[in-house]
This record gives sequence, C-alpha cells and structure tokens, in this order.
Amino acid sequence: MRILALISLCLLSILGALAVSPTLSSGGGGVSSLISKAEFEQMLKHRNDAACEGNGFYTYEAFIAAADAFDGFGTTGDNDTKKREIAAFFAQTSHETTGGFSTAPDGPYAWGYCCVTEQGDPPDYCVADIQQYPCTPVKKYFGRGPFQITYNYNYGPAGIAIGIDLLRLPDLVATDPIISFKTALWFWMTPQYPKPSCHDVITGRWTPSAAHLAAGLVPGYGVITNIINGGIECGRGSNPLQEDRIGFYKRYTLRTVPFPASSLLKNRQAVVQSEIPNPLPKPHRFPNKTPKKNPPQTSKLPTISFTSPSLSDAKTLFNSLINSTPADLKFHNSLLQSYAAVSSLDDATSLLRHMTKTHPAFSPDHSTYQVLLTKSCYSPDPNLTAVRKTLNLMAAEGFPPDKATTDVAVRSLCNAGRLEHAVELVKEFCLKNSPPDSVTYNFLIKHLCRTRTVSSVNGFIKEMRESFAVKPDLVSYTILIDNVCNRKNLREATRLLGLLSEDGFKPDCYVYNIVMKGYCMLSQGSEVLWVYKKMKEEGVEPDMVTYNTLIFGLSKSGRAKEARKFLGVMAEMGLSPDEVTYTSLMNGMCREGNASGALELLEEMEAKGCSPNSCTYNTLLHGLCKAKLLGKAIELYGVMKAGDVKLETGSYGTFLRTLCRNGRVAEAYEVFDYAVESKSLKDVVAYSTLESILKWLKKAKEQGLAV
Ligand SMILES: *[C@@H]1O[C@H](CO)[C@@H](O)[C@H](O)[C@H]1NC(C)=O
Ligand SMILES: *[C@@H]1O[C@H](CO)[C@@H](O)[C@H](O)[C@H]1NC(C)=O
Ligand SMILES: *[C@@H]1O[C@H](CO)[C@@H](O)[C@H](O)[C@H]1NC(C)=O
Repeated sequence: MRILALISLCLLSILGALAVSPTLSSGGGGVSSLISKAEFEQMLKHRNDAACEGNGFYTYEAFIAAADAFDGFGTTGDNDTKKREIAAFFAQTSHETTGGFSTAPDGPYAWGYCCVTEQGDPPDYCVADIQQYPCTPVKKYFGRGPFQITYNYNYGPAGIAIGIDLLRLPDLVATDPIISFKTALWFWMTPQYPKPSCHDVITGRWTPSAAHLAAGLVPGYGVITNIINGGIECGRGSNPLQEDRIGFYKRYTLRTVPFPASSLLKNRQAVVQSEIPNPLPKPHRFPNKTPKKNPPQTSKLPTISFTSPSLSDAKTLFNSLINSTPADLKFHNSLLQSYAAVSSLDDATSLLRHMTKTHPAFSPDHSTYQVLLTKSCYSPDPNLTAVRKTLNLMAAEGFPPDKATTDVAVRSLCNAGRLEHAVELVKEFCLKNSPPDSVTYNFLIKHLCRTRTVSSVNGFIKEMRESFAVKPDLVSYTILIDNVCNRKNLREATRLLGLLSEDGFKPDCYVYNIVMKGYCMLSQGSEVLWVYKKMKEEGVEPDMVTYNTLIFGLSKSGRAKEARKFLGVMAEMGLSPDEVTYTSLMNGMCREGNASGALELLEEMEAKGCSPNSCTYNTLLHGLCKAKLLGKAIELYGVMKAGDVKLETGSYGTFLRTLCRNGRVAEAYEVFDYAVESKSLKDVVAYSTLESILKWLKKAKEQGLAV
C-alpha cells in the first residue's frame, strides 16, 4: 500500500522534513562484508585504463577505510537496503567521474571513476562573500573526487566534517584517495538543505513534505539525482545525463541486489523550495551553485592577497605598501585577514605586531583582533591554547572579553565543529564577568540541540543557570521545544512548557503551534485538540497555522468530522480556510471512505473562492478510485485535464489500476498519454506503471482471479 502512503504524505506540508547530521563513527563498520574487492573491481572495471586520469587512484581499500568512518553508510536497514545504498552511491559518483561513451568497451557503464579532477580550465569556484568558509588565495575549489565536490562552501564544511582543512588544502581531494572518498561520503550523508541527504532517501528514512511532493519528489533514486543535480561532470559521456545515472545504477544493482530499478526511477526534476514558512530560523543554507559573482568593490584601495605563508615575504610586501596607503582600518584588516588565511596563527600575530610597529598611524581595534580570534578558533587545536593566547593578547592590548568577543568566539568554534570548546569558553567568559548575550547563548543552544542528547542540553542549561545566573529566554525555550518535538518527545515538550511558565514567560502562538505539530506527527488527535484548548484558556489567539495544523492533525487521526467543525470556527474568527485546510480535510474524509463527502467539500471550497491546487485534485482522484466511484473519478480527471493539472505518481497509478480493473484499458492508455504530454511523470515511470498494471491484469485473468 505504498501508493496510499504516498498520497497521505502529500499533506505533510506543515511538518517538513527532518534533517539529521551525519556522525563520524569510531570505525569498525561492516561495509567490506557487503561489497567485496572483486565486486568493486568488476563495477569500476575500466577505471585503471591507461586513458583514465584516475588510473591507479581510487582503490578498494581507500573506499572501505572512508566508508567505515561514516556511521550508517552501507550499514542501515536490511541487507538489500545496504546493498542498494552502496550501488546508488557508486552509480551517482560513477556518473560524475565517467570516462564512458556509447561505443566504449563493455559499454559506457563500465567506465566509472575514470576521472579525478574537473577537466578543461576550471575557474576557482570561490564565492568570496561566504565569510564562514574563506577561500585561500591561489587555491581553487573546482570539481575533485568521486562527487566532484566544488566551491569553497562545500570544501569548507566537508573539511570540518572529516578533520582536514580543505580550504587550505583542497588538492588533497585529488591526491589522497581516502580523503577523496570521504568528501564524497560527506556529501552523501549530509542533508543538502532544503533537500534531504542522499543517505536518508535511499534508506527510506526521508519523508517528503507537500512542497517536495508538489515538486514531484517521491522517495527514490531520482530524488538523489535531484539532490546532486548541478554537479560538475568531468566525463565525456554523451548520453542524456539522467539516463547515464540510471544506466550505472542498473548495471550495479543487477550485480548486487535484485531490485526493480523502474520503481526507483520515480521523479521529475524540479527545484524544491519550502512553501511553508518554518517558525524557526532556517539552518545554514548552502547557496545553489551559481556562477561566481564578482565581489563588490567597496574601496578604491588595492586588493592585496597573500599567497605565501612566509612571514618575511609578508613583511616585505607590507613595507612596500605603507608609503602609498593611508592608515585605513578596513584595508589593514583585510590585509591581515588575507595573510591569516595562508599563514599560521603565530605568524599572523607577528604580522599584526609588525604592522602597528612600522605604521604607527594605524591603530588596530576590536575588529582587527577578531581576525586573529577567528583564526584561532579554526586552527587545529586539541585544547583552547591558541584561543586563550589570542584572548590574552587582546586583553593586554586593551580589549578584554566583552559580548562581541564572546559572540565571535562562540560562533566560530561552533561553525568549526568545536562545540565542546565553545561550551568550555562560554563558562570561562562567565567567570570573567562576560556572560554571553541572549543571541549568542541561543546560537549555542541551537548547535547543541543538533548534536547532543536532550538530557545533555538540559544539563548545560541547568549549569548555566545555577552557576552563572544565565537564564534561557522565550527564544531559547522555543528552540528547545522545537528540538524535542522533532524528536517526538512530547513529554519533554510539556515539561519545558511548564518550565517556561515558571520562568515567567508566556508561551505564544508560535510555541503552541510547534507543540501541536509535534502531536500531529504522532497522529495524536486528542492531544492536538488539548493544545488548542490550552491556547484558548491562556488567551492566546490561534492563527492560520494553528487551524491548519489542528485540522490536519485531526484528519490524520481519523477524526475528520471534528476537523470539519473547525471550518466554522475559522469563519467566526475571520480566517478563511485555504487550500491546505481543505485538502487536509478531504484527505481525512477520503481515508475514512467518505470520498463523496470530500467531493462536496470541493464544491464548497470553490464556492468560497478558494482554488484547489494539484494536491487537492490528486487527493480526491485517489480517494474516488479507492471508494470505487469510477464515474466521479473520470469526471474529476476531465476537470484536471481541462485545467492542465498534473497527475501525481500515486494517484496516476491508482487511477490506471481502477480503469484496468473495470476493463477500460483504452482509457488507461489515454490517461498514460496525458501523463506524458502534461509532463506529470517521467515517460519511463508513466510507462513502467502502465506496463506493470497490464501485466498484472493479464496474469490475474489467466489464473481466473477476480480483479
Ligand atoms: C546479511 O549479510 C551478512 C553478510 O553478508 C550475512 O552474514 C547475514 O546473514 C545477512 N543477513 C540476512 C538476514 O540475510
Ligand atoms: C594544550 O595542548 C598543548 C599542545 O598539545 C599542550 O602543550 C598544553 O599543555 C595543553 N594545555 C592544557 C591546559 O591541557
Ligand atoms: C461524509 O461527508 C459529508 C459532508 O461533509 C457528511 O455530511 C457526511 O455525514 C459524511 N458521511 C459519513 C459517512 O461520514
């Protein structure tokens, strides 16, 4: 009943998909038991061909070493799922690195992993306005390795994840095969906001939101292509790109695990955007790969970039500049920043000293020292020695710790993945009478929530409160409650609501909506209703999100009748139900077998001036078919066709099956034509669905079964 599940997911809009960060494992994974060296050699058969750039580079041993460093890769789910993930990983990366062409020996799909680096004359792929991941001068971030990772904003976080400073040493991705595989696995395992991670998709742990589904994304191999899409292809593969990715996948799955590849190919290419505003600030969003922008020219002063880490070279360069440049703070800061990007912390500190000594007109301020502080936070450092050294220097120069310093240090340490150090430093700052302000504190809490257990986060908050009188505010509580609701720990959410009140805060509509959403995810209709009642008791005015969540939650819990009553309540409150409201309700009614009631609701909706969207129509079409109201379904389909409404994979399959069952095969073909013409589905998906239904029908008839 995969299809039924898909349709009801079409409404998960309010909930969105949950992102999970990958964790590096301590090793000891079992990927080698799932793919032998012989299988690896057979899959990537021609990669060591003399014509291939990658000749000798990608080894089985390097792959296993890298794979075992990522918890969950190739080790999630049953054996078939594990093998499927490995096959999909190699298929996608083979496409990125292919040396195949249609007449190549053994066919184009025996030529994965032929390339290592992006061919031609690639640009530096540096997006300079992403200060979090500063580019190193002269280094280029073009495609390298199995996933042809590109841009500073991918090299940066990949490097942090695997513990190698890839912003300074990007070439390692093309020279060290373990690092090379690790960058690809990092990409595979990490959600690419707003898209899920490839890993979660292939292992079935991703639930598409309505926005995803509206964009045609249903779990399967095609979604992975969509996540990756835009990658730099280094090969000379002349096949249409999507076909090439599929071709590799088919070759690899045939070899490893019998799997109906066609059912995995569901998707159409679309850009996924979250339609539903998230009540919390979004996590860091990687920009889409866009052509490099020229950095805005803010000053007429020359832009100097240092390319050598040598301190004496840097001093010489600086000396050559001082007579021709004014003592401009920004210019000096940018010089220091540029040198710090290539040098060690000590050398950068020495250069600053040299600058103030030889150019007394220049007086560094806070922002100058923050360059060094940021550098210390990103430096490899087993403890906080380097950070403390910089802080001591700052204090000595008249810049003792203050809120701005605390903020820079905490943000940099968190972004560098040094969460424990950030926590340690915050406590130290508290002891020095410089507690974090609420913005810094909440930033840290948000990071802690992502990686730590709920009890560990609570422990930290308790300690901050008891030892340093730093208290959470309403935003902190909102972050905490959202975190536990996403983890489906509603008991903890209730406890936090109590604490929040004890602290003298009053939960607002935002907070209640989050809690209600949590109960929705668990299909706990009574609790959803309880939250609503509580809001009313507390005098908090429910908003549109509240009512949509409420109606969605009740419908999802088999209480469509009650949900329906809230349409009237909304009207009394002066709120107009929108297409999400109506569609949620229709979905609930259809699930309870009341498709004709849902159809009446469609009329009511239109009478009220609310236009149904494609999700509405598809929900109804599916519901009518399930309720064996074929006549109505055909009528509705006519309306959809007239309005160019696309069919979704689920309702398309259900509709075809119902038609065929009723002996209306010719009409099924007509629906197939429409699905293809309207680009509702990929041709191959539309066709394979029809084909399998016809096969099933034929078989059922032969065996004399009732259809
Ligand atoms: C899964 O694969 C492993 C290693 O190949 C094997 O030992 C195990 O028995 C398999 N499990 C099942 C349920 O087939
Ligand atoms: C921090 O690490 C450095 C270098 O590894 C070491 O010399 C120093 O003693 C350590 N300091 C503390 C406080 O652990
Ligand atoms: C079906 O929905 C209609 C319209 O909302 C309602 O009047 C009717 O009572 C429902 N029927 C059942 C069996 O729930």
